[in-house]
Order: sequence, then structure tokens, then C-alpha cells
Amino acid sequence: MEEALPHRAAELLGDARRVVVLTGAGISAESGVPTFRDDLTGLWARFDARELATAAAFHADPDLVWGWYEWRRTRVRRAEPNPGHLAIAAIEARIPGTTVITQNVDDLHERAGSPAPIHLHGSLFAPRCVAAAAHPATIDDADDADADAPDGEPAQPHDGRRIAPPRCTSCGALVRPGVVWFGEMLPEAAFTAAVEAAAACDLLLAVGTSGVVYPAAEIPRIAARSGAAVIQVNPEPTPLDRVCAVNLRGTAAHVLPSLVAAAWAADPAPRS
Ligand code: APR
Repeated sequence: MEEALPHRAAELLGDARRVVVLTGAGISAESGVPTFRDDLTGLWARFDARELATAAAFHADPDLVWGWYEWRRTRVRRAEPNPGHLAIAAIEARIPGTTVITQNVDDLHERAGSPAPIHLHGSLFAPRCVAAAAHPATIDDADDADADAPDGEPAQPHDGRRIAPPRCTSCGALVRPGVVWFGEMLPEAAFTAAVEAAAACDLLLAVGTSGVVYPAAEIPRIAARSGAAVIQVNPEPTPLDRVCAVNLRGTAAHVLPSLVAAAWAADPAPRS
């Protein structure tokens, strides 16, 4: 079933007690963070993001891949959460049984007020040592390529640059971005928590995800199989359309605030 207006979606959200919000790159697009399917620019223009985000690429050319992640980290630091992120934080404040699960490696949910989003694909802000995958890397502050130069010039040129990755100060091995690359396992605790939340929710909102990268793409399908209603917010059709009760074809920053407003229009008091 597909509806242009969020009436049914507002009803579902207004009645929900356990909500899961699964987000993808689309929710951060309106904050200026490019999605993985956008063409890369500058130094990265001749690369495909899906080729740079691999262990093989890092081993073959660590400076190129570390430079790309530093460039992405700089862009995220300069970005701000948009009304879509804020609407999700408002849902959490309103419905205590809400779990936010994100495939994004930025921190825009946290900065919008979501207390503890589950990061299925890791974080740009938690680099780790290649030698001991589980232990966070200790890096000297001097290695923070994002720090602006003393004269106020940004350290990262607009087009990006190659940067040698730092070495772990405890063991000397290379430091790698703390993200999940293509072909790697998801962090087990995060994925287990996500599956449990999806299986137990009565409503799942899939926002700005293409629904093609597994196992994250399994999350809305688990919710649907467990009897939850799935609402999708995406300007484009995706393979998730088939499992959705309602497809809201629009952007997250536009659709989510109006969905939240419509859900509680008749009952503005938070649920106790
Ligand atoms: N609002 C909502 N959705 C949007 C918006 C927007 N403003 N702009 C784009 N989209 C949608 C696109 O139509 C697309 O379906 O967001 C989706 C982005 O898809 P992907 O770039 O594939 O992002 P995602 O689903 O998060 O990818 C999953 O794969 O690329 C890897 O590890 C990376 O975490 C990522 C994972």
C-alpha cells in the first residue's frame, strides 16, 4: 500500500509504544554529508566510495584511504543536524521505548539529542588499531588532521588530500578508521541489539536508506516479519517498498517533522 499523505503514518506513530528508527545516509544528505551513491569530488573524483571503503584499499594505499576518511570527518564536523535528526530525537523523547539504529558513521543523531543510537557501521570518531581490532587506538593529539592550522586556515583543503595514518602509541601499528568496511562483520553487540529491537517493536521507520546493504537491510524485514508496521521515508523507491505499510516519498528533513506534528496534533502531552 502506498499513500502520498502521512495520515496513516501519523496514526501508526501516534499509537506506537515501541518504535525503531533505522537511518541511512539519506538522513544526513540534507546536512551536507554526501551519500555513498553520490559521485565523489576533488581528489576522490576518480574513485567509487564503495571501492575506498574496504580493507583491501587501506592496505594497498593507507594514505589515500586515511585522507579520505579525514576529509569525511572534517565535513561531518562542519555539518549540523537537520530537522529530520531533530524529529527523530523528538520521537525518542515522546516514546521512551524507541531505539535509533543508524548505518551512518557521523554523529549527527547524537548532536540532535538522540542519547545512544546504535551505530551498525561504526563511527568516524573512533579510530582503532589495525593490530588489535577490538582496542581503540591511542593517537597523539598532534595526529588530529582535522585541527585547523594556527593561522586559522582549515587543515583540510576543500578537495581533500592524502594523509599518512597515525601509528598506535601503544603498539606502533597503523591506526585505521573505526568503521565497518565492505566485506567486514558488523560489531556483534550492536547488531544483536538492533535485531532484538526490530523483533520487538510495533513500528519501524526506515529513513534515507537504500535497503540494499546487508545485514542492515535485514532489520526492517525482521520487524515486518515480527508483525510491526514499517513506514519508509525516502524520495526514491527502494527494495524496502514491498515490506512497508506506508511509503512517504519525500526527504527526511521535510517529511519527519510533519509526521511528528501530525502524530500528536490531537494530543500534545508526552506519554507518561
Ligand atoms: N531524505 C531521505 N532519503 C534520502 C535523502 C533525503 N534527503 N536523500 C537521499 N535519500 C535516500 C536515497 O534515495 C537512497 O535510497 O537515501 C538513500 C541513501 O542510500 P545509500 O547511499 O545506499 O545509503 P545507506 O542505505 O545508508 O547505505 C548503507 O552502505 O554505503 C554503505 O556503509 C555504507 O552505511 C552505508 C551502507
